[in-house]
Amino acid sequence: KKERTLGIIKPDVCDKFSQILEAIYDRGFKVTKMKMCQLSRSEAGQFYQEHQAKSFYNGLIQFMSSGPVIAFELIGEGAILNWRALIGPTDSATARSEAPASLRARFGTDNTRNACHGSDSEQSATREIEFFFPSKGVKRRSTAT
Ligand code: CMP
Repeated sequence: KKERTLGIIKPDVCDKFSQILEAIYDRGFKVTKMKMCQLSRSEAGQFYQEHQAKSFYNGLIQFMSSGPVIAFELIGEGAILNWRALIGPTDSATARSEAPASLRARFGTDNTRNACHGSDSEQSATREIEFFFPSKGVKRRSTAT
């Protein structure tokens, strides 16, 4: 099933942008929207609202607002799971042992500085795409659907 998902290149690896984009195209995803921006603490908090109660929340918000991120919409067959497979397990150390070719294994540092984000369901993909690329109530023709 053709799906759309939201990906983020996190502040720790924006300089690896070209290698990450190459991996994305090599896996056959279509990149249909993309932007670079720096999130405020409150925007990062809103984006990660479902993790508010977690012990790692403050560190996550601090990190995600510490520098620019690159957010993009990907479209492809099974894009949600396929993008998460390409980025690998959350903890970069686990990624290095279990999925050495994954983006977190290649570029991540640890559990927080883990290179990339991917939506975990259709519902979060919709919310997260709208967060970075608001439709503002205007009907726009989207690319590649
Ligand atoms: P991400 O895929 O962006 O979704 C939530 C983020 O929280 C995750 O990547 C990590 O950056 C962070 N995270 C998840 N679990 C932990 C953890 N146990 N310790 C620290 N950070 C975590």
